[in-house]
Amino acid sequence: MLGRDLVEALRSLFRADEVFGWDIDEIDIQEENNTIAKVESLQPGIVINVAAYTDVDGCESNGEKAFAVNAEGMRHVALGAARCGSKVVYLSTDYIFDGKKEKPYLEEDLPNPLNVYGRSKLRGEQYVQELAKDSLIVRTEWLYGKHGNNFVASILRQAGEKRALSVVNDQIGLPTYTIDLSKAISLLIEQGARGIFHVANSDPCSWYDYAQMILKLSGIKRVEVIPISSKEAGRQATRPSYSVLDTQKFRRETGMDLRPWPEALKDYLSTSP
Ligand SMILES: NC(=O)c1ccc[n+]([C@@H]2O[C@H](COP(=O)([O-])OP(=O)(O)OC[C@H]3O[C@@H](n4cnc5c(N)ncnc54)[C@H](OP(=O)(O)O)[C@@H]3O)[C@@H](O)[C@H]2O)c1
Repeated sequence: MLGRDLVEALRSLFRADEVFGWDIDEIDIQEENNTIAKVESLQPGIVINVAAYTDVDGCESNGEKAFAVNAEGMRHVALGAARCGSKVVYLSTDYIFDGKKEKPYLEEDLPNPLNVYGRSKLRGEQYVQELAKDSLIVRTEWLYGKHGNNFVASILRQAGEKRALSVVNDQIGLPTYTIDLSKAISLLIEQGARGIFHVANSDPCSWYDYAQMILKLSGIKRVEVIPISSKEAGRQATRPSYSVLDTQKFRRETGMDLRPWPEALKDYLSTSP
C-alpha cells in the first residue's frame, strides 16, 4: 500500500529512472544472501524498506514469520546497504508504544510494545540503528491508501452488506493517508534527515469516529455505527489505547505540516473508485 505511492512520489521528486521499486517477487527480504546480493547489485544511494508482515493479529499466532520479515528482513536489507555505504530508511509504527502515556508520543519516548507486531518492528528499528551509518526511521500509524486493504475499504465493504457496524471506541490514533505520508518521506529524504521522525496526519480520533466520518463523507446514511470496547471486539493482538504520534519534530525540520485526517480522507474518497 505505501510502497507504490512512495515510489511514485520519489519519481516525481527525483529522477524517475533512478528510483527502483521491488516487490516480494524481486526480493524476498527473509532470504539473507539473496537480499544482500540484490541490494549490492544496484549499489543504491538510499535503500527504503517498507516491506513488512503487517497483519497485526496474524503476527500473534505467527511470531516466527513476524520476526523473520519485520526484524530479520530489515537486518538483511541493512547488511546489503552496508556493503554499498547506502543510507537506510525504515518504516516503523506507533505500535512500539504501550499507549499508557495518554499524550502524543515523542521520538525519544521509551518504547514498550504490547503485541508481537510491535516487538518485531522495534527489533527492526534496532537493527537499523546498529548496522547503518546513516539512517532514517519514520514511525507512522493507521495507514490507508489506494493500493491495499485498509480500514476505509473495509468499512465501505461492510456498509454494503450490513445495516449496523460495531467499531472500537477506546483506541485513539491518527488515520494517515499514504499519499501524504509518501510526500513527507520524500521531503525528509531530500533534506537529508537522519534519526527518528514521527509522521502522520493530524487531529486524533477513535476508530469509531473514523468509521462515522467514512460513512458521512461517502453519503451513506442507512448504516449505523455502534461504539464498542476493545475487549468486546476481542481481537487477537492487544493494541495501545492511545497511540498518537507527536509530529512536531517533523514540522520543525521540514516546515511541512500534514493536514487533518478528515481532509485527507475526503481527497482519498473523491479519487478512489
Ligand atoms: N498499515 C499501517 O497501518 C501501518 C502503520 C504503521 C506502520 N506501517 C508500516 O509501514 C510499512 C508499509 O505498510 P503497508 O500498510 O503499506 O503494508 P502492506 O500494504 O502490507 O505492504 C507490505 C508489503 O510487503 C510485502 N512483503 C511481505 N513480506 C515480504 C518479504 N519477505 N519480502 C519482501 N516483501 C514482503 C508484502 O507482500 P505480500 O502482500 O505479497 O505479502 C506487501 O507488498 C510497513 O513497514 C508497516 O510496518 C504500517
